[in-house]
Amino acid sequence: MAVRLSRQIFQKVIYRCTANNHSPVFKSFVKATTKRQNVRFSSSGTSVSTLSFNRNKKLWGQLIASGGIFSATFGLVFIRKAECQVDERNNQLLAAIKDGNNREVKRLLKGGVSPNCRHVLGWTALQQAAVNRNLEVVKFLLEVGADPNLGDEFVNVNITSREKRLNTLQVLMAREEDFCDRLNNAANFKDCTALHYAVLVDDRNIVETLLQAGADPTKENALGHTPIMYVRSNTMRDLLQNREKEFQEKKLEREAEERRKYPLENRLKEFIIGQEGAINMVASAIRRKENGWYDEDHPLVFLFLGSSGIGKTELAKQVAKYLHKDIRKGFIRIDMSEYQERHEVAKFIGSPPGYVGHEEGGQLTKKLKECPTAVVLFDEVDKAHPDVLTIMLQLFDEGRLTDGKGNTIECKDAIFIMTSNLASEEIAQHALDLREESKLANKQKSTGVDNTELLEMVTISRNFKDFVVRPILKRNFRRDEFLGRINEIVYFLPFSRSELSKLVTKELEFWAKRAANKHSIELMWDHHVVDVLADGYDVHYGARSIKHEVERQVVTQLAMAHEQQMISKGASIRIVVPNYSDLTKGKNISGMEPNNRVIKLQIKRQGAKEFTDLKFKSSANAFSVNDSFGS
Ligand SMILES: Nc1ncnc2c1ncn2[C@@H]1O[C@H](COP(=O)(O)OP(=O)(O)OP(=O)(O)O)[C@@H](O)[C@H]1O
Ligand SMILES: [Mg+2]
Repeated sequence: MAVRLSRQIFQKVIYRCTANNHSPVFKSFVKATTKRQNVRFSSSGTSVSTLSFNRNKKLWGQLIASGGIFSATFGLVFIRKAECQVDERNNQLLAAIKDGNNREVKRLLKGGVSPNCRHVLGWTALQQAAVNRNLEVVKFLLEVGADPNLGDEFVNVNITSREKRLNTLQVLMAREEDFCDRLNNAANFKDCTALHYAVLVDDRNIVETLLQAGADPTKENALGHTPIMYVRSNTMRDLLQNREKEFQEKKLEREAEERRKYPLENRLKEFIIGQEGAINMVASAIRRKENGWYDEDHPLVFLFLGSSGIGKTELAKQVAKYLHKDIRKGFIRIDMSEYQERHEVAKFIGSPPGYVGHEEGGQLTKKLKECPTAVVLFDEVDKAHPDVLTIMLQLFDEGRLTDGKGNTIECKDAIFIMTSNLASEEIAQHALDLREESKLANKQKSTGVDNTELLEMVTISRNFKDFVVRPILKRNFRRDEFLGRINEIVYFLPFSRSELSKLVTKELEFWAKRAANKHSIELMWDHHVVDVLADGYDVHYGARSIKHEVERQVVTQLAMAHEQQMISKGASIRIVVPNYSDLTKGKNISGMEPNNRVIKLQIKRQGAKEFTDLKFKSSANAFSVNDSFGS
């Protein structure tokens, strides 16, 4: 017996030994030790057993003393540091699957062990059953709720050992012993599903079982490979090809059904207040694309116009979120004010060979290569150098881009959104004028329409677009063909009074949630507070001015009260505008004197019945309502 280990260094050691399965002493040893935790015996022919040394010193002593039964070669294999210790019952389940101990698997699953549990190195129970070709366990795991579409977190021996801070040898041994010893350990297995593994081990029955249970044959692993890319036999290829087609059709049907039930406009409205025209225009264009009613040779190009803080970037983000699950890859944001000089073109698409930064590649090309169907946001496009615009024109026109290394990226399915503040003053003024006109007309006609939201809904006229906005854009971009390639110019309008109320409420709700979660304090407010805070709107800063107003008038007071230990857990705080009704008497709140528009806090401590005013110490300057935003 050769034992090479250093117990001083390692806390726990797992030994591998080869033993004679059929020896009666070995059998009784197995019986005795499997009752203990952390001991696993394989019932497969190779009779590999693993055993925690520290916990079982006595047993090891007995075993070795029984002499000659074990012809064991021990290799020092594994350290389990505290951070790597996983739930013992999960361990038991995974070990039972590996050992083919189906009764134990069922017992553990019935006893509440999660069918989606993972090995400390990242693979799931179902993946382990699939790779070990254990159809019975695969079926049972699926029955009790195992998700067939979970991906493996194990990458390869080197990367995983680095990630888990383990010795590569330990990881190698664990992967081979606990999972499968027939895989290439240098290959990348990240995001491989149980279906990938079933195909890899060429087990048709398991593949069919997984597919019937809803395994997605189009799911890619981290290398972008679907299971079909690993097939070895033609019958398996045919099976997967048919299922891929069926699955794709069903998926499209499901998505279409979902779109019918819950249109994109409604989804976007959950996050974006107002901007109905912009939302409808963008949603319609995306609908045309999703349903195959679009020009397949060109990508979709939008130009978002409007003043600051009004939802241009937010809408682009929400569109990306809707179209891509992985928002990090699916949303590319490029600040075009960084490309004002001619030489900065290289930063955009990468430098040609021989130039500095050639190896780095361009900011846009690098990201587009990762996700050619991304939503790409070109912020402040009017600031870009004309040479950069030339590249963008090529991109919009041909739907492809060639980087500094000469590689071409096809991106006809990408969505390009440019934003600009050009003509924003004119657009804002036009919208305000239209709203005024609409109110006036309503008054004169005495139509009795009482719905302010309806009256505030205005549409930018064709004349205004052609004779005011277009000349401004032409003057700036100096090219008709550039403007000609834009599918839709989308107008963002200043917020109306009712939209401001919604923005304020959304902001107060955000702080109420935070107060509850972080400080266990209930926050409530009078509706007058919403009116007063909406007055803080500055058309130049948009929704940002509302955020700042709420912070300045409400959050500052809360923080001050907190610091002075005036509020404690379990308290309720009401935000009020004192004497509001006495002061307004039907007048517009905007007509009130600034001093009367002060927002105050009232508190009801835990157990108390009434709210009382919060009075700050005279030295404490809790809020400074007279500071104007941005000053
Ligand atoms: N219509 C809106 N509905 C809800 N939140 C909004 C809206 N508009 C802006 N916001 C919020 O205000 C902040 C700024 O918005 P956003 O970044 O979309 O502004 P923008 O129009 O892109 O402005 P800029 O021209 O300065 O880039 C974000 O936190 C966003 O959530
Ligand atoms: Mg923006």
